[in-house]
Amino acid sequence: MAKEPQVMDKLISLCKRRGFVFPGSEIYSGIGGIYDLGPLGVELANNLKKAWWENIVQERDNIFGLDSQILMNRKVWETSGHVASFADLLTECKNCHQRFRVDQLPSVVKTGSFDPSTACPNCGNKNVLTEPRDFNLMFKTHIGPVEDLPAGKAGEGSETYLRPETAQGIFVNFGNVVDTMRVKLPFGIAQIGKGFRNEITTGNFLFRVREFEMMELEYFVKPGEDEKAHNYWKQERFNWFINLGVKKENIKLVDLPKEELAHYSKGTTEIWYKWPFMDWGELEGIANRTDYDLKAHSQASGRDLSYFDEETKQKIVPYVIEPSVGVGRAMLAILLDAYTEEPDKDETRVVLKLHPKLSPVKVAILPLVRDEKLTKIALALYDQLKKEFAVVYDEIASIGRRYRRQDEIGTPFAVTVDFDSLEDKSVTVRDRDSMKQQRIKISETPNLLRERFK
Ligand code: GAP
Repeated sequence: MAKEPQVMDKLISLCKRRGFVFPGSEIYSGIGGIYDLGPLGVELANNLKKAWWENIVQERDNIFGLDSQILMNRKVWETSGHVASFADLLTECKNCHQRFRVDQLPSVVKTGSFDPSTACPNCGNKNVLTEPRDFNLMFKTHIGPVEDLPAGKAGEGSETYLRPETAQGIFVNFGNVVDTMRVKLPFGIAQIGKGFRNEITTGNFLFRVREFEMMELEYFVKPGEDEKAHNYWKQERFNWFINLGVKKENIKLVDLPKEELAHYSKGTTEIWYKWPFMDWGELEGIANRTDYDLKAHSQASGRDLSYFDEETKQKIVPYVIEPSVGVGRAMLAILLDAYTEEPDKDETRVVLKLHPKLSPVKVAILPLVRDEKLTKIALALYDQLKKEFAVVYDEIASIGRRYRRQDEIGTPFAVTVDFDSLEDKSVTVRDRDSMKQQRIKISETPNLLRERFK
């Protein structure tokens, strides 16, 4: 079922109120398309990245991790094609000076072609839009003290770019990984790191921002085995989202038409999510990048980025399949699917039904009332559990209000210490989703939680 559009406002408000996401540089009126993660947001993002790393790197024998840097020699970006092709068509209103992505103009979405006489979507004037021109999305920066060298010898020129994707760090390290890890095709290199894009239009919260983390896998295969691997990764990545609680009816796999492919792609399938603000749209891309990047870097750098196949005694330049997703965009989809409002007595209960693996807080320890005898037991349990789980202790406000606070941030379990606990050495464990309560011995609490979080 589609979520109503207001769900975005409710979610953004919850994220701000409860410390998930803050607008960047807020005290200076913000900065377009930049968001900061608050105390709970950073936990959610860390849990999401951990879930990806476990699934992609840790649980597989043939995928290796990498952490290449944001700044690279500018020749990387010339060779990869990003200097020439990583651009969107832009038009500017001569009246209000707002800039728009041509492909996002309502008239272009409707008709498929640009007409300069159509009204500016901001000020409404007609005949004011300039002829479309390419706008490169990479942020330029300078390395070292001299800013006016465009591109010096051996790439020492001061000008370069903040990376728009982590993938190029993987391609330029391909030879290093092959030489050090005794790899055998097929194998992959995975990386999580920041990407920067000077998007013309940002918006819809974390959906399109200018600085974001990406989780990218480059999976190298023999040419001819690329289509099979592409199909495999489409399914794997789709299932990963389903296993983390994204609803089946809200995601689907879509093959992009040829005219929409990036300059390096032979074929791209996207995982689309049913966003409340645009209906279906990209959540993750899974591209077949062929041997485009390795070949281009081999040629431009003079370093042989091929793989020696022991079986055929031949050198191969592998093809590569690339699943790539933004951490923030994935978080947004997961939060949207987790956001639930349920009638509860006279009020509405707001619950983030997050997969327990992703919840920023796993367990809340709550003494029924603030009483020294109860808080002593509760604090002892808190001290014990926090060595293993992300736990909070809360004794402020009524027990009902405290349950609601935990529901709203997606804490899967609340453990309540009451006066009976003094006698029966037991506590009540409340389940976030069913609100069912279970009485168990205090000493059994760690085991029960271990079992639930398995
Ligand atoms: N290396 C391949 C690549 O960069 P992409 O489709 O341009 O492909 C991959 O980006 C993913 O990164 C997208 O599917 C999306 O999840 C995320 N992403 C891209 N641009 C973004 C932006 N401006 N804000 C947030 N996430 C973005």
